[in-house]
Amino acid sequence: MELIKVQEPLCVKCGICIDICPPKILSMGTTGPVTSNPNQCIACGHCVAACPQGAIDNFRAPLSAQNSLEKFPVINAEEAEQFLRSRRSIRCYKNERVPQELLLKLVDIGRFAQTASNRQGISYIVIEDKETRKKITEVTVQWMEENASNWWSFPLHIRAYRDQGVDGILHDAPNLIIATAQKDFKNGRENTILSLSYIELFANTIKLGTAWAGLIEMCAFSNYRPLLNLLQIPKEKVFTGAVMVGYPKYSFKRLVDRNPIEVTFI
Ligand SMILES: Cc1cc2nc3c(=O)[nH]c(=O)nc-3n(C[C@H](O)[C@H](O)[C@H](O)COP(=O)(O)O)c2cc1C
Repeated sequence: MELIKVQEPLCVKCGICIDICPPKILSMGTTGPVTSNPNQCIACGHCVAACPQGAIDNFRAPLSAQNSLEKFPVINAEEAEQFLRSRRSIRCYKNERVPQELLLKLVDIGRFAQTASNRQGISYIVIEDKETRKKITEVTVQWMEENASNWWSFPLHIRAYRDQGVDGILHDAPNLIIATAQKDFKNGRENTILSLSYIELFANTIKLGTAWAGLIEMCAFSNYRPLLNLLQIPKEKVFTGAVMVGYPKYSFKRLVDRNPIEVTFI
């Protein structure tokens, strides 16, 4: 199968596909773009997505799988700012099950994030089971007790959990999304961070809330077996990140603010 297929009557040889190709594997032939280096294609689909004529197809990023942008409304800068500044970490969840279609929609959005060399490579485990979630909190607290001096908040979480039964780890969220990557995958963590960030941002639009499960991550990254066993990560994969998900109990009425910007132009 040829990597590039060009519909000659449509191609006006504008050269956009050549200019835009990240590994620079396209050049202009007599009838349109050609490549002598198809194996170096990273399947990003830029050539197909940018062609104004719809003249080029790429076997590794087919035109038929690319949606036209035209049917989507363009959000303006103010709407975009509101959208981005509306995402908050949710630590109080309703005791309500999230339908699997919505969880699937969330992780499906996560796969559209940018990844190093478009290698993607992140897969997800969604933990819904209540008993498993409870055990995740329990073993993470156990790990904190063994490593109480590692992080400022560990003693607070341990005390809240042991004395009052407060789950400051998973916040009683009804779902935990675990990201995983192949053991030898170089950009697993970076790709995970972007993917989970997409998930966190999108969640608001389907009335869900999320929070980064940093304490669980610390425990998992320290290779704490009791936790890793609960997460059931396949043998050939490793844990790369986690976010909790559920319906927020409360809504925020104000946009996020942060420290004043520090920027230098040179
Ligand atoms: C790497 C990372 C780890 C985090 N870990 C936790 C965590 O374990 N538990 C939690 O409730 N929030 C966690 N958070 C959320 C932050 O506390 C939160 O983003 C920050 O306080 C700002 O609040 P906002 O997200 O509502 O804007 C984490 C965030 C990041 C980026």
